Order: sequence, then structure tokens, then C-alpha cells
Amino acid sequence: MLRVIAIDGPAASGKSSTAGLVAKRLGWAHLDSGALYRALTLAALDNLGEGWPAQRVVDLAERLPVRLVLAADRFRPEVAGADVAEAIRGERVTRNVSTLAALPEVRTWVNAQQRLAVQACGDRGVVVDGRDIGTIVFPEAPLKIFLTATPDERARRRLFQRGEAVDVELVRRESEALAARDAADSNRRVAPLKPATDAVVLDTTALTLEQQVTRVVELARGLFPG
Ligand code: DC
Repeated sequence: MLRVIAIDGPAASGKSSTAGLVAKRLGWAHLDSGALYRALTLAALDNLGEGWPAQRVVDLAERLPVRLVLAADRFRPEVAGADVAEAIRGERVTRNVSTLAALPEVRTWVNAQQRLAVQACGDRGVVVDGRDIGTIVFPEAPLKIFLTATPDERARRRLFQRGEAVDVELVRRESEALAARDAADSNRRVAPLKPATDAVVLDTTALTLEQQVTRVVELARGLFPG
């Protein structure tokens, strides 16, 4: 049985926080696939200038290289051997990542990296989060979760995470930015954001992080032996 839990959902729905904590409680590894799209975007912005033909992005990723490296219990994004976990959270990467993530050849490359990473974990399970994990990357994952929350709630969480004041106008602007990225991710031709038919859909608008983590861990304990 494939020891993968797939967690998908829109931007700022709490996927990575949930996936990280679920992995910790189960003693599994955590793979944030968005971090690889972001690391590729950072590499492309720094090295390719305007316009990103997909094959040049993939060649660059192989050459630098852009990689996910397992460090204790999570995969860390690296570009040319440097840890870019912080650098990929910047506004410049966030604004450009959906464009790069819409390129089919880039997605094929990222998916192959994810499958290799899971293989390398052997019997240790991996919690993988993203947009297409349950639908495309690991459709055979025994547990698939789709997290949702209202755009305003997600905007509030994002601002809180950044330590910014949560005033009405900022929430409105952040909510619009999230909605634009969701629309780009949901309407693209390749691997659009949507729940797998057999995913458990969890609306987290009124849940605490602890509550959603507990729910996923309970489901996992019922499904995975050991
Ligand atoms: O989860 P995130 O915000 O770090 O993801 C960054 C972008 O990467 C997001 O806008 C869409 C893309 N992405 C994707 O297309 N497929 C994934 N499995 C993960 C992320």
C-alpha cells in the first residue's frame, strides 16, 4: 500500500501547516510540492529574464540544480545547493509562480521529482501537499484530503501569518489576490485545482489548526497499518 497522504486545496487553506503537523504526529516526512514550483520560479526569475519556454526552465532546473532535499522530517527546497525556504516566500515569486506552474513540461518534471522523493523514503510515509496530489501525482494515495475555507478567512490567516494588521481593507485586497491565484490554478488546462472524486473535503473556516490536524491524523490511523 502506498504510504502517501495527499492534501490539496486553494492558496492559504492551511495545507502546508496541516501537512507538516500531521507528518510530525505520524513520524512521516512532509513534502510541500508548492515549494518546488516556487523554487523553480525563483531560479527562472534570477536566471532566465523575460519569457520562460518550458524546456529552458526544465534544463535550468537540472543544471543548477533545483531540488527537494530531505532534512529530518521535511523536504527542503534548494537552488544550486542553497536553502531557499525563505527566499521563495517573497512577493516576486508569489506573483509569478502560477504562470510557471501552468507549463505542462514543468509539471511533468515536478511530478517526477515528487515520485522519486516518495520512493526514496521507502517504508516511511510521506504527507504531500499541493493542488493536484490526489488527482494527478498520487491518484492511488489511500487518503486524500481537500481543504477549503472562505477567501476572507484565508486572507485573514495569511495576514496573521505575515504579522500584518488584519484590517478590513487589507483583508479585502488579500482576498482578491488569493481569488486571482485560485482562478489561475483552477482554470488552467493542465492539472487544474479540484478535489479528487474520492477526497475527503474538509471546510476549515470554523476549525482551528489543531482540530483539522486531529481529524486528518484520525483518518490516517484508521487507514494505515503501523
Ligand atoms: O501552495 P503554494 O502557494 O506554495 O503554491 C505555489 C503555486 O504553485 C500555486 O499558485 C500553484 C502551484 N502549485 C501547483 O500548481 N501544483 C501543486 N501541486 C502545488 C503548487
